[in-house]
Amino acid sequence: MAISHHLVASVVQKGDMVVDATCGNGYDTIFLAQLVGDEGSVLALDIQAVAIENTHTRLTELGLIHRVQLINASHAYLDEYLPNQISAAMFNLGYLPGGNHQITTSGPETTTAIEHCIKRLRPGGLITIVAYPGHPGGREEKKYVKDFLSQLDQKEYETWQLNFINQRNQPPCLFVVSKLDGGAL
Ligand SMILES: C[S@@+](CC[C@H](N)C(=O)[O-])C[C@H]1O[C@@H](n2cnc3c(N)ncnc32)[C@H](O)[C@@H]1O
Repeated sequence: MAISHHLVASVVQKGDMVVDATCGNGYDTIFLAQLVGDEGSVLALDIQAVAIENTHTRLTELGLIHRVQLINASHAYLDEYLPNQISAAMFNLGYLPGGNHQITTSGPETTTAIEHCIKRLRPGGLITIVAYPGHPGGREEKKYVKDFLSQLDQKEYETWQLNFINQRNQPPCLFVVSKLDGGAL
């Protein structure tokens, strides 16, 4: 979702460490790798080997592979791989476009992974989560994520939900977590 890229670009600087928690076909990973530059690093995970391969191929073609650590694992285990501090994490939920639609993200694993990222998020850092309520299980996952983000301490975080108001048929929505650094975003 383009608006998630605009928000992430507003906080990530060259040399930063960032996360793509669902790399899929690699488009968000490419975007993040371009943002962090040669001194920065992207940790990108996907539960499917085919997604890791697709992302690896695209990054190699673009000469960006050296900026990315690709991990074929569930993001529920993100804390095993996370650096001490990250400035942003992106979650694009649901299934792999062009892949197996039965393999999707799930509320419990997604919120576990968000929790891991929140613990390493630098003040002023952002997490974006695009949720798709239109596929089986997607509505439940969206509610699960919303319930989790709604209870975060307002003294430490701002959390938002951005909805389309001109799209039909259960459009995606964007959740955002911002770790406060003394001032609002
Ligand atoms: C909508 S796609 C991501 C698209 C991707 N961000 C891009 O730019 O192409 C969702 C991805 O989440 C992956 N996924 C599902 N469950 C996962 C989990 N527990 N941990 C990590 N990735 C998971 C799927 O395999 C799929 O590739």
